Amino acid sequence: MTRPRVLSGVQPTGALHLGNWLGAIRNWVELQNSHDTFVCVVDLHAITVPHDPAKLAGDSRTTAALYLACGMDPDRCSVFIQSEVSAHSELCWLLNCVTPLNWLERMIQFKEKSVKQGDNVSVGLLDYPVLMAADILLYDADLVPVGEDQKQHLELARDIAQQRINARFGSEERPVLKVPEPLILKEGARVMSLTDGRSKMSKSDPNEGSRITLLDPPEVINKKIKRAKTDPQRGLEFGNPDRPETDNLLGLYAILSGCGRDAAAEQCAEMGWGQFKPLLAEATVAALEPIQQRHRELMADPAELDRVLSSGRERAETVAQNTLERVRSAMGFAPRA
Ligand code: TYM
Repeated sequence: MTRPRVLSGVQPTGALHLGNWLGAIRNWVELQNSHDTFVCVVDLHAITVPHDPAKLAGDSRTTAALYLACGMDPDRCSVFIQSEVSAHSELCWLLNCVTPLNWLERMIQFKEKSVKQGDNVSVGLLDYPVLMAADILLYDADLVPVGEDQKQHLELARDIAQQRINARFGSEERPVLKVPEPLILKEGARVMSLTDGRSKMSKSDPNEGSRITLLDPPEVINKKIKRAKTDPQRGLEFGNPDRPETDNLLGLYAILSGCGRDAAAEQCAEMGWGQFKPLLAEATVAALEPIQQRHRELMADPAELDRVLSSGRERAETVAQNTLERVRSAMGFAPRA
């Protein structure tokens, strides 16, 4: 019996942070046991905003190594670099030609990111969700594990598959593309900034103190948590809309310490910040230590990383070419000789 398929990815822009791990990668690690899992480093997405060419390839490798360090096992999943499988760009073009412009113009992330870019908004930034749809649809993914912020992009991928490809070029009995489901877990799906509990932790926040990256050394983690925004109230609790920072920090503690939300809420109900922050820092350092150790080992063995990425690419290529050919044929292109 074939296992249901999973596809996901992270952009190699800047260092991966706790949100990327807890919202996305942590879930992949579980899914690889039960699903045919493909995870890629989405480097083509990383160039939709101005980027440094001297860093792109290195950042992609570091990101791939972090996937492995977080627990992705190349014997149970395929890890690859998106741009090395050209079918992503090809399918993106085919999907571009059937996707209405106004679907893209209403994407929240486009609106937010384009404000930051000022006059320098690229066509690629607008087209970003179509490339993401291509990533997903190429692998006939059943499930796409992502954080909350990607929900709208997932809905777009579903609409493109259903309304623009299957309805026009397929039939009910013979759909061209599989329509994927998002997988957004309740815990960790929206990790917030350490400096503002109302905005999400993000790689693009100019304030580095707003996020903890997976490779931050212990002293940096301690410092960032010490400076994290709090409120004057004593005692930590979940769900108080007037205390977003408290909710976020307690949520992080519940996951990173492994004790869970109920135990964390009980343990910290009467605690002052001076007692809580060192606890959170200790739990964070302890959770990241094995990832950092494994990451160092992987980066010291480039041949092994090459091997993993090339075998991941081969597996991805086979599946992706198959789907691409199906879409080409449904849209009326002659088979490739
Ligand atoms: P990216 O690189 O911004 O983020 C990667 C993953 O991390 C999740 N995430 C968060 N989760 C919880 N709290 C946060 N603060 C937080 N910040 C980020 C994101 O939801 C995402 O799951 N467009 C995607 C990358 C992509 C992709 C794909 C994902 C391209 N093609 C195909 C899935 C399938 C993105 O920019 O993610």
